[in-house]
Amino acid sequence: MKRRSNLIIETEDCHSLLCRLRNDIVGVFMGYFRENIEKIKGYEPGFQPSQTEVIKLNTNENPYPPSPQALKVLTEINPEQFRRYPDPIGDRFRSAAAEVNDVEPDFIMCCNGGDDLLRMAFQAFCDENRPVAYPVPTYSLYPVIAEMQNCTAIEIPFDDEFNLPAKLAGTNAALTIVCNPNAPTGSFVSVNELASLADEIEGVLLIDEAYVDFAENNCTALVKDFDNIVILRSMSKGYSLAGLRFGYAIARPEMIAGLMKVKDSYNVDAVAIAVATAAIKDQKYFKENIKKVKSERARLTEQLLELDFDVAESSANFVLAQCKNGKAVEIYKELTKRNIYVRYFEYPRLEDKLRITVGTPEQDDKLLAALKEILK
Ligand SMILES: Cc1ncc(COP(=O)(O)O)c(C=O)c1O
Repeated sequence: MKRRSNLIIETEDCHSLLCRLRNDIVGVFMGYFRENIEKIKGYEPGFQPSQTEVIKLNTNENPYPPSPQALKVLTEINPEQFRRYPDPIGDRFRSAAAEVNDVEPDFIMCCNGGDDLLRMAFQAFCDENRPVAYPVPTYSLYPVIAEMQNCTAIEIPFDDEFNLPAKLAGTNAALTIVCNPNAPTGSFVSVNELASLADEIEGVLLIDEAYVDFAENNCTALVKDFDNIVILRSMSKGYSLAGLRFGYAIARPEMIAGLMKVKDSYNVDAVAIAVATAAIKDQKYFKENIKKVKSERARLTEQLLELDFDVAESSANFVLAQCKNGKAVEIYKELTKRNIYVRYFEYPRLEDKLRITVGTPEQDDKLLAALKEILK
């Protein structure tokens, strides 16, 4: 080690420690990193409190447990599976996901969460001369990976109704990303519009369907007709497996083969393959779970409207609530004091809004009671 750090690490919760470290480090040019890595702040994940006795509605986890079938598989793991490397392409999961999505297994690639696929896509398609384009506001990880990959990010604003911007088709980007349903707005762009976009652009269209399990439609059928579409799916939201880290891509086999060139050799572990496979096979449990979340989304929306928030229709497992008094950050802080965590984004067009994950009816009732108290 050439230099000693003089940082003193005190006992504090992990999130504030990470934020403090990041703030200390940003702007300190060590000279070891590539220039664009030195200058970026890095992605700031939502707060993960260590206590369990909190109402956690800030990172869009499913409020219900994963399928009992998935949990049963955990008890049946053979220690031999730890000694050996896992199946590098997770064939068992590919077959199960192919059946659910009505495609062949070679249309599927397993990923270590949907974020793993995003990183692979940037690595595979983008560089200094090959930009990425996406409508904003959207998932705040896209610009961070663009910086890491040193590619230009062309950000096209959504209109006030969050319709797909017509200009997105004319950017000449190597990679165009549409998050659908979009985060953090919950808005949904029709399958026909995305088919037209795929038709018009020269590059790849990645449709980020991390939240699609809570929507009425999805774009899976398009991969049969378009060789430039890659669909991202996550097991974190609809299947209640955020802690497992599992997602997958759906695309034509030639596209999947290309993406596999940039994946880690063993990007999904043996336990994750077994658990995710059992979860996706249990469609009965999955459908019941989704039905409960959707019905609670409708109730939460209604109640927030009654509290005088503006809430746009959401096709995801969260709602974006606009505080008419503009005091979103104050409300966010008051909720945090009461151990109720929602997400506040300090980004243009989001400063007066709170993104609230749909919880259980009991959790949402506690949130609503706290909001009533704060707003009175
Ligand atoms: C829009 C969007 N895409 C992709 C992901 C990645 O999900 P995961 O890596 O948990 O599968 C997330 C996670 O929150 C997301 O919000």
